[in-house]
Order: sequence, then C-alpha cells, then structure tokens
Amino acid sequence: MELNIWPVTDGFAAEVVDLDLSQALDDATVEAVKQAFWTYAVLVFPDQKLTQEQHIDFAKHFGPLETSIGKYRKDVKMRIPLELADVSNLGEGNRILDEDSRLRQFQHGNRLLHTDSSFKFVPGRASLLYAREIPPAGGMTEFADERAAYAALDDATKEQIDGLIAEHCIRYSRMRMGYDRFTEEEIQQMPPVPQVLVRTIPETGRKNLYLASHALKIVGMEDEAARALIDRLIAHATQRQFVYTHRWRVNDLVMWDNRCTMHRGTPFDDLRYKRDVQRATVGEPANSVEMAGLPLPEIAA
Ligand code: OGA
Ligand code: MN
Repeated sequence: MELNIWPVTDGFAAEVVDLDLSQALDDATVEAVKQAFWTYAVLVFPDQKLTQEQHIDFAKHFGPLETSIGKYRKDVKMRIPLELADVSNLGEGNRILDEDSRLRQFQHGNRLLHTDSSFKFVPGRASLLYAREIPPAGGMTEFADERAAYAALDDATKEQIDGLIAEHCIRYSRMRMGYDRFTEEEIQQMPPVPQVLVRTIPETGRKNLYLASHALKIVGMEDEAARALIDRLIAHATQRQFVYTHRWRVNDLVMWDNRCTMHRGTPFDDLRYKRDVQRATVGEPANSVEMAGLPLPEIAA
C-alpha cells in the first residue's frame, strides 16, 4: 500500500493524508505507516474523526499501551480512560481548570522540553496525541529531532557522551518549574531511573541523543558537571534547524517517536480557552540501558 505522504520538513515531520484511522487498517497499511514513522519520527494525520476507542485501537498497532499517570494521581478524577493521558486544561464537567488547580500546575510541566515517560523505568516509545478542541492562539507543540542533533555534534562530544547514563525523574522537571506539591507516596512511586544518553534506534540503526528536562544527573559525574552537560546538549538539540513547530488543527492526530525526539507545548491563555488534547502512549519493551546491553547502575532515590 502506497501512503500519500507530504513532507513538512526535510526528513523529520510529514503529513499522511487519505487515511481514515477510524477504520480497521490492513497489515500492509500499518507496515507502510511504520516505515514512514522510522523515516520521519513525527507524523501528522489531519482531519481524523476518532472515538477514544478508535484512537486507542490505532495506537495499539505500534505496541502495548502504557496506562496514564492518572493511576498515580489519586486526587484527580479522570475524564478519559486509563489508556489515554489527559493533556487538556479541563477537569470535571469539561470545565477549564482553576488557576491554582494542582492538575493545571502539573500539566504546565509539558512546557519544558521532554520525551514522554523517560522518568519511568520502561519509557515511552511512541505517543499519539489527538486534538478535539484547540485554542485560537498559542498551544502549539515543538518537536526537536535528536537524530539530526546527534549527527551534528562534534566528534569530541560524541566520544565524551558515548555510554553515559542519565538519571531521569519527574520531580526534577517539575521542580525546574517551581512545582513541589508531590506527596510522599508519589515521591516513592516515582524514583529516579537510569536512561542512556545516546540511543540507537533498532529499526534504522541511527543514533540519537536521548534527553529531557526530567534528566538532571549523570551516573558517575558530579551534579554540576552533569547538569551543565545536559543543558549544553539540550541547547544544541533545540536549535532552530532541528525543530518542527506543530500548529494544531482540530482533529489532527500527531504521532512522534519518543526515543529520538523531544517536545514541549507552547503557552496559551489556558484560563480562557479550552485545549482538549488526549494522548495514547506506546511503551518500550525494556529500559533503555537494558536495551543497549549495558549493566544497570544503582541509583539513590
Ligand atoms: C504530551 C505533551 C504537549 C502539548 O502530550 O506528551 O507533552 O503541546 N503535549 O500538549
Ligand atoms: Mn509529552
């Protein structure tokens, strides 16, 4: 099956048209989508009309789904099934979250560069975000191509970071935003986890940086040096030539490869406008250190 693919950038983001994701897809079509996904890392499927079940069913073609962080958030009543993450600014009754809502402040963490679920021992492989309602301005999503960013590093840096293991923790990224309303139970459920700093994607053999605002420390390195290195690499990886900014239309489904991209949501007037976006996340089969065949380090909580 030939897909109708329109590159949006040179080799990083593409639109796939003439494909109705609400219908069951045959194997050849799924295979063609996968091939496009390995090439581009960000695929946009415009004008999709999906129920939550159809969204979940399409995502399952790419592997088993993660359940959302909702299971850790005992205080929040979720609007959507556990297989989807609620990335909206809405709460019960589809009302806009209050200014001092804990969930709202937590969602603001998505405005930092990250890759999904790298703070979990087994991180996210692919995310599929579907837009049901979008604000008239702002609320875009920026994606950084960490394959191109890796390729553009100088040899000395490539050598320096080869084999390094970073520690990712959701508390680190939320603390960077000034959010510190974690309960003891949440802190224990989400300890720092190891992730390699450079990954090789098995399907393509391409190497890339694996970075996020969740990463703060590096195993065997002084904290300050680690932070400086991570900040330098993130600054490198987010130069304009590596970034695609997605301006959402209602009914866009955007799918990205968490293994080799970073992303963040840009601000919008979230006390005034609704932005209803929901995400299905496909998990990896194992931790990235295990997948690289390296020994797992001990990490202090
Ligand atoms: C996400 C995310 C950013 C956005 O869904 O994982 O980070 O723009 N979203 O909503
Ligand atoms: Mn995200």
